[in-house]
Amino acid sequence: MNLVELAEKVYWVGVVDWNLRDFHGYETRRGTTYNAYLVVDAKTALVDTVKYPFKTSLADNIRRVTSLENLDYVIVNHVEMDHSSSLSYIMQHAKNATIVTSRRGKAGLVKYYGENEWNFQIVKTGDELSLGNRTLRFVEAPMLHWPDSMFTYLQEDKILMPNDAFGQHLATSQRFDDEVDQAVLMDEAAKYYANILMPFASLIIRKIEELPKLNINPRIIAPSHGVIWRSHPSKIVNAYLEWSKGKTSNKAVIVYDTMWGSTQKMAMAICDAIAEKGIEVHVYQMRRSDFAEILKEILEAKAVIVGSPTVNGSMFQTISAFLRYVTGLKPKGKIWAVFGSYGWGGGAVRAMTEHLKTAGFEVLEPGLQVQYAPTLEELGKCRELGEKIVNQIQA
Ligand SMILES: Cc1cc2nc3c(=O)[nH]c(=O)nc-3n(C[C@H](O)[C@H](O)[C@H](O)COP(=O)(O)O)c2cc1C
Ligand SMILES: [Fe+2]
Ligand SMILES: [Fe+2]
Repeated sequence: MNLVELAEKVYWVGVVDWNLRDFHGYETRRGTTYNAYLVVDAKTALVDTVKYPFKTSLADNIRRVTSLENLDYVIVNHVEMDHSSSLSYIMQHAKNATIVTSRRGKAGLVKYYGENEWNFQIVKTGDELSLGNRTLRFVEAPMLHWPDSMFTYLQEDKILMPNDAFGQHLATSQRFDDEVDQAVLMDEAAKYYANILMPFASLIIRKIEELPKLNINPRIIAPSHGVIWRSHPSKIVNAYLEWSKGKTSNKAVIVYDTMWGSTQKMAMAICDAIAEKGIEVHVYQMRRSDFAEILKEILEAKAVIVGSPTVNGSMFQTISAFLRYVTGLKPKGKIWAVFGSYGWGGGAVRAMTEHLKTAGFEVLEPGLQVQYAPTLEELGKCRELGEKIVNQIQA
């Protein structure tokens, strides 16, 4: 692969992980990349490393520009393993390098990799590091993605390296946003936001608003996963602002599971009623579907309708896992409704309602439950629920 230059003597030295299909439980059907950047000036700085199986590829990429012994600084924007687990290997060779990281970054690196004879330089928001003709500036960005996270800004070239923020799990032979299919790009960016950053919406808004006040107006946004935003940096920043403010479209998502098809019949009746009113609706049987994909659809949906049969007095296991996952991610401003089939005492609808209310979500009550298979009349009730949701979506 050719060396990729973002600006003069600013290189992408990362790796493409074509075969990754599971990123800590997030199904990555398009793989991912671990991006690292090399800035060569009077001093040379490596910004981030890559996941450890790729450590020699990272080293080889750097060596195409300079020797590892020549590295003066290794910037650690984030201690999570996908970005830091090649650090020990790089530091074995980069004998002269100082690790530049946040206070929590240093603590995390010591906890993960033990006490090493590494030189550290702790930085905080606004701190600068001169490389000669060029300057790196740092912005702490706690919880985007972990408490240690920070952004690095190459001032003269206006290149922001925000690590996990603005990323996408997308393996391609292209490195830049204008080289890939825009629908695929935004699909993966939305999925990434929904599953990784959604709980931190208010922090994202504040961080984006803070950047211009620090005189950071990036021309290029170079995240740690996926392609680099060189043509449309404002596209991803605006998308993050809209998602963080809870932007929705007239869309509903139905997530259900079933053992003998009754809850499924209810789901289909609700779906038909919504679709007949011209509202887009997506339906997922939980145990045949991927959490990350569902969350991407929920991101911009106005209503989420969850169905579960009763099993041993409560919800079906995949639905309980789904509800724990979705409430942890704190999607904003949705209409929630629940339904399900039961045999005798019931319990799923009650458990789903309680779970959502405890998480602080507003749920349409009472939830809709039918015994065993729904009759025609009961399917009518399902359609009524669908119509009620449409009215609320359009309200
Ligand atoms: C393993 C199992 C456990 C069940 N436990 C309960 C229960 O505790 N309470 C109840 O009301 N129904 C229980 N049921 C009955 C189901 O809720 C009922 O058959 C329902 O119609 C299934 O809906 P489905 O066709 O969508 O799977 C149980 C069924 C199975 C197979
Ligand atoms: Fe991360
Ligand atoms: Fe990451």
